Amino acid sequence: MNYYFGVDYYPEHWPQDRWETDAALMEELGIRVVRMGEFSWAKMEPREGEFHFEWLDQAIQVLAAHGIQTVLGTPTAAPPAWMVRQDPDILPMDSHGLRREFGGRHHDCQSNHHYRQHVRRLVTAMAARFGHHPHVVGWQVDNELGNSHGDLCYCPHCEAAFRRWLQQKYGSIEELNRAWGTAFWSQEYSDFHQIISPKVTPNGHNPSHLLDWKRFCSDLVADFMRFQVHILRQYCDPKQFITHNCMGFADKVSYFELGKDLDFLSHDQYPGGYFAQPPHQPNQRLAAELDFIRGCKGKNFWIMEQQAGITGWECMGRNPAPGQLGLWTAQSVAHGADTVVYFRWRSCLSGTEQYWHGILPHSGKPGRTYRELKEVIAGLRPVLEEVQDITTPVQVGIVYSYDQNYAMQIQPHNPKLTYLGQVMKYYTALYRANVPVDFLSDQEDFSKYPLLIAPLQYLTNPALEQKYRAYVEQGGHLVLTMRTGVKDETNLCLPHTLPGGLADVLGIEVPEYDCLWETTLPVQWGTKLCRGEQWCDLIVPTTARALAVAAGEWYAQTPVITQNRFGKGQAWYVGTEPDEELMELLMGELLRGANISSLGDTPQGVELAFRKGREQDYLFVLNHTEIQQQISLNETWADREISLPPYGFAVVKSADHQE
Ligand code: GLA
Ligand code: ZN
Repeated sequence: MNYYFGVDYYPEHWPQDRWETDAALMEELGIRVVRMGEFSWAKMEPREGEFHFEWLDQAIQVLAAHGIQTVLGTPTAAPPAWMVRQDPDILPMDSHGLRREFGGRHHDCQSNHHYRQHVRRLVTAMAARFGHHPHVVGWQVDNELGNSHGDLCYCPHCEAAFRRWLQQKYGSIEELNRAWGTAFWSQEYSDFHQIISPKVTPNGHNPSHLLDWKRFCSDLVADFMRFQVHILRQYCDPKQFITHNCMGFADKVSYFELGKDLDFLSHDQYPGGYFAQPPHQPNQRLAAELDFIRGCKGKNFWIMEQQAGITGWECMGRNPAPGQLGLWTAQSVAHGADTVVYFRWRSCLSGTEQYWHGILPHSGKPGRTYRELKEVIAGLRPVLEEVQDITTPVQVGIVYSYDQNYAMQIQPHNPKLTYLGQVMKYYTALYRANVPVDFLSDQEDFSKYPLLIAPLQYLTNPALEQKYRAYVEQGGHLVLTMRTGVKDETNLCLPHTLPGGLADVLGIEVPEYDCLWETTLPVQWGTKLCRGEQWCDLIVPTTARALAVAAGEWYAQTPVITQNRFGKGQAWYVGTEPDEELMELLMGELLRGANISSLGDTPQGVELAFRKGREQDYLFVLNHTEIQQQISLNETWADREISLPPYGFAVVKSADHQE
């Protein structure tokens, strides 16, 4: 059963006599699925063990009568007041040792035994009640796991769980002392009980301790999700799917890990940005997050929350211009969404999210948004039918690693250097060239990608090095960057000349480097003068040839970007963060070298994305600009000349299947 379009619905916010009107309006809009329940624990269990599911059942029935199925969320991101007062130690603790209080959401410690008991009781009751319900088609576990947990939870329960995790990992305290290099600053432990959750210290913290803590936190969140998944799988019809709504590049928990226990991943997409950030995310960032979620399970996904109006909590984003909501919907589909669920059905009258606008305004009367989305849904549904469940093949892979990200967060080298920032530099160049990209973890098979880009392989191990070596040997085109091979997996510096074990694959040595803090470096590529940012490796080629050299500083003429042939393949090393111009030159070289073609040329701000369909292929042409655009496509497409209004989009079929 496929649904294509849905909405996030909160019947508990509205009088019951409105539900029928809502359901009828949804049906007319083309909605076939709703997500409900993910914040309504207090309504489901107003007192311990006293369950009230009738209201939810009624809402499900009202919707079902209009052909709309339900995805139920487990409401474990919002433990009710009675529970918190009864067991105050389920409240999470921050790195200053302070408890975060009731009044928002996510005020839960995920290792707390009492909390787990409450969760078990509620999820079991929900599963028993709805696990075989004919109109409940799937489940969403919790909501945006890791959201709000940035500085949480350092409580004694988490500390105890961290010690068990360490004991399991290292076996003995001697091994932990070695792995963390505790000889420094007299940090030796003689017993696991001396190890604490890393709360704020008077000054810098042990980087190995911090890295394991971040890994532990990710594992804890994944365990919390798995705990619920097991209950649901035990009681529910296997036909009901289980998913979770992720948040793009949010890093508290590894989505590669979450994906393993779920039928598919979902993602929440808010192009207008969040209340806490300036409005409007860059288009390439939106595209990258969609590609990332697809990559985390190597499978198409759902958008569980797609922006449907102005975003805002205390402050608000821009009002989406005519066409923009449809454009963003099409972008989600273009990058692999098989179903798009809009957040939220109707702007709510109370609470923190009064200004996070829905399809219907506060008045409940359909307006511009409703009319626009109705057209978008009608137009995109046939495309969704054709591409449903089909994986689109992609030639360029970017290796993404939570561990590398964590390690760079702990020691960014240059305050402006971030792992994601560097990943996005490469992604952006590919995006501008209209070359589709897959994200993959370093655990996956590299061989299906003619071009593999692995930024900041800072933490390394012999097996990973062997994998990169074999990839190039067998004909792969590999890009490695600055700070490759610096550390072992427990965040200790390795006693070798950089880049370590991959030196011969890259044909270089990096005996020295320079941090470009508050400065940039002129870099010469052929006759072009560009700039390197954040960092510069001073490369000594052994077998590699220099593609770019420093054109300033005392190390002028030193290679900063190199290329090497190794086995049947090639390996590039990029010893700096290229500015836009340098990146464009580099990307041109990489795409030529690996023989990768682009989907076509477009004006700035117009995106091309490709999806494979059952009978034919589809090209999405997305105009993110506020002006009319003309785009010429190549002969593979049925329409060659496309004219798009501001924020317009078109979906073009492949030429050989023209009807
Ligand atoms: C997130 C959450 C939703 C809602 C929206 C808007 O994506 O999953 O519950 O809070 O943000 O704030
Ligand atoms: Zn805790």
